[in-house]
Amino acid sequence: MNAQLLFQPFRLKSLALKNRIVMAPMTRSFSPGGVPTSAVADYYARRSEGEVGLIVSEGTVVNRPASSNDPNIPHFYGEKSLGGWKAVIEKVHAAGGVMAPQLWHMGVVAPKNSGWLPPAQFEGPSGYVAPGKIGGIAMTDRDIAETIRAFAQAASDAKALGFDAVEIHGAHGYLIDQFFWHPTNQRTDRYGGQTLSERSRFAEELIRAVRHAVGPEFVISLRVSQWKQQDYAAKLATTPQEMEAWLLPLAAAGVDIFHCSQRRFWDAEFSGSDLNFAGWAKKLTGKASITVGSIGLSGDFLAAFRGDGSVPSSLDELRRRLDRGDFDLVAVGRVLLSDAEWTRKIHEGRSSELIGFSKEALATLA
Ligand SMILES: Cc1cc2nc3c(=O)[nH]c(=O)nc-3n(C[C@H](O)[C@H](O)[C@H](O)COP(=O)(O)O)c2cc1C
Repeated sequence: MNAQLLFQPFRLKSLALKNRIVMAPMTRSFSPGGVPTSAVADYYARRSEGEVGLIVSEGTVVNRPASSNDPNIPHFYGEKSLGGWKAVIEKVHAAGGVMAPQLWHMGVVAPKNSGWLPPAQFEGPSGYVAPGKIGGIAMTDRDIAETIRAFAQAASDAKALGFDAVEIHGAHGYLIDQFFWHPTNQRTDRYGGQTLSERSRFAEELIRAVRHAVGPEFVISLRVSQWKQQDYAAKLATTPQEMEAWLLPLAAAGVDIFHCSQRRFWDAEFSGSDLNFAGWAKKLTGKASITVGSIGLSGDFLAAFRGDGSVPSSLDELRRRLDRGDFDLVAVGRVLLSDAEWTRKIHEGRSSELIGFSKEALATLA
């Protein structure tokens, strides 16, 4: 077994990474008025200095009136916000890092406790915020076309600002996933349907528009998940055949990397095989994939939202799967919130210095 595959370079089109470790996208809400500050730039630059191979930014919202429910989540539009992002990518590059923004539209979501509301109603495929529960409006054809244009514009801006790739947030029950998921997509037009493939049309058109905007060589990652914030047990694809019918058209539309979000990377996706979601995505599409979920930690992120910490755990099982070729890259979330130096410590075998995750890390941009 090659114990150091984790630290082998990875090349794909516009991406040249020094190792296989990706910082997972994590919403921080430290960008007042949607503008990333110099503290945000320093936070990402510290992870680059700590040897992270690829940073995926926190979700940053596209130019739609109700793409966000939080005024402190960064925008990826408007002169000030794009100026803030330019400073971020310049600092990350100066620190030897590589970075992609995660482009996001929340779809129909619950308002934050603060009571802040965007200047328009939340929008989604059918207005559902959760199964059977209306929380916004159903998008018209025009809303859909303008949303697709907003993603394409953001991707084109990312490239122009100097980012190395883009990630589209298609997971966790937000807008794109609300189209995928039948309980939140009850449309009877071309964006709805009984099958997952029919409900993927919105994502397919969106990816095609993003591909057109960035050209053939700029890497597009798509984050997908079976689970939803509305239902952790939800499954979009219940068999490998359904997963293939879902992901292959998205690959054909222009996805280079599937970033397969699981709470625990070691969970098998289907019975009869120990392959996880990223393993199946790579096998079925032939595209690169990223795994994620409790890497290097003893507990999953739901524990974090309950306020629990997690202690360090072994990377042996992760390395076994990486060496077997299941996936190309591995994303780590919480551990990098607590410890910007985590990647370097792993590289140098300084396991006694690993500190795990504690909830205090959520409150600061250290
Ligand atoms: C504070 C926090 C914020 C998150 N925000 C996002 C986000 O903006 N976009 C996204 O796709 N996932 C988000 N996630 C999920 C993480 O990217 C990751 O998939 C999850 O934390 C599991 O990885 P971990 O076990 O290494 O923490 C967030 C997770 C945490 C803990």
